[in-house]
Amino acid sequence: MEAVLGLMIILLGVAHGVDTYCDGRQDGAQCYGALGGTVDIQLMDSTSEIPRYHLLKDSSKILDVKHKKSLHDTTENKFLFFPSNGTFRISSLNRNDSGKYTLQTFDSDGRTSDEWTFKLIFQAPVSSVLLVSECLSQGEMRVSCSSEGGDSPQYSWTLDGRTLTDAELLSGNNKSNNIILKQHVSGHLVCSVRNHVNSVSKEQRICTCGFIFINCTLSDGTHITKWVLATKNTLCIKPTMGPITVSDTALDNSLLLCGLRAILGILLLIGIFIYFAWKKKKTEKVAVPQTMDYPDNSVLMVEMTTSTSCNA
Ligand SMILES: *[C@@H]1O[C@H](CO)[C@@H](O)[C@H](O)[C@H]1NC(C)=O
Ligand SMILES: *[C@@H]1O[C@H](CO)[C@@H](O)[C@H](O)[C@H]1NC(C)=O
Repeated sequence: MEAVLGLMIILLGVAHGVDTYCDGRQDGAQCYGALGGTVDIQLMDSTSEIPRYHLLKDSSKILDVKHKKSLHDTTENKFLFFPSNGTFRISSLNRNDSGKYTLQTFDSDGRTSDEWTFKLIFQAPVSSVLLVSECLSQGEMRVSCSSEGGDSPQYSWTLDGRTLTDAELLSGNNKSNNIILKQHVSGHLVCSVRNHVNSVSKEQRICTCGFIFINCTLSDGTHITKWVLATKNTLCIKPTMGPITVSDTALDNSLLLCGLRAILGILLLIGIFIYFAWKKKKTEKVAVPQTMDYPDNSVLMVEMTTSTSCNA
C-alpha cells in the first residue's frame, strides 16, 4: 500500500514537475509541453506598446489584454497572464490544450493590425536513463545509453566535463546512444537524454578494460603492434612507445614457459581422463544406478573474466 502510494507520488511529481518555456513572439512557433505540466509562453516583449491583443484557441478567446491588463476572467488558475513581461502561463496541461493558438493585435482604433500563430505540442518527458558498459574482446568498451519513455529522445555525451573527441571514439559519435570507446579511455562519463520538455542524465566512472598497447620488435624482426590484456601479456615485458628488442634468452625463456605450460595442460587432461575412467569403473562395480555421485566434480567450470582498471 505504501509502495503504491509512493509510486503515485513519484508519478505525480514527474507530471507536475515539467515546466517548459516557449517564445511565442514569432509566427509559426512550436511550443512543447508535458501532460500535467506547465508552459510559459512569451506573447509580447515587456516593452511592447501594442494597445490590445487577443489570444484565441480554436476560435475561442482565452485571453484579452488591453493596455497590458487582462480583461479576461482569470479566476481560473489554469490560465495566468503576467503583464510585467508579457508571459502567458497554462497550468495542468491536458490533451485539449494542444493545438493551434492565434494571437491577434489591434491598434488604438480597435482595428486588427497583426496576427500570428503558434502550436502547442505534447511530448512525454524522459523518465529514467540507463547506462551500461561492457568490455569487448580487443579491450574497447561499448557503452549504451537508453531511456524509458520520452518522445524523440536526443543523446549527448561528456567525458570529464567535455564532449567526446574522435580520438576517444572508435564508433558512434556524440549524438549516438551506443558508442564504442577506445582502449585507453577512462574518466567520468555522462550521458544526457533530452527532448523538448525535459532532460535527464546518468553518469558513470569509466575504467579501461585493462589492455595495454604493445609496439615492439622481436629478435627475429617480427614487429608486434596490438592491444593485449595486461595481466595475460607475454609478448613484451612492458608497454613501450619505441621498439624494444626482446633478447634471445628472453625469447627462449618464454618459449620454454609456453612448452612447460602445454605439457602441464596435457598432463592435467590425462589426469582428468584417468580419474573419470576410474570413477566410471568403480560405479559400474558397485552397480548403483546413481548418475550424480559427486556433482561438484562432474562439472568443469571455466571462468573467463575481463577485468577493468582505473588509472586514477
Ligand atoms: C514573467 O513573470 C512571472 C511573474 O513574475 C515569472 O514567474 C516568469 O518567470 C516571467 N517570465 C519571463 C519569461 O520572464
Ligand atoms: C610503433 O613504434 C614505432 C617506433 O617508435 C613508431 O614509428 C610507430 O608509429 C609505432 N606504431 C604504432 C601503431 O603506434
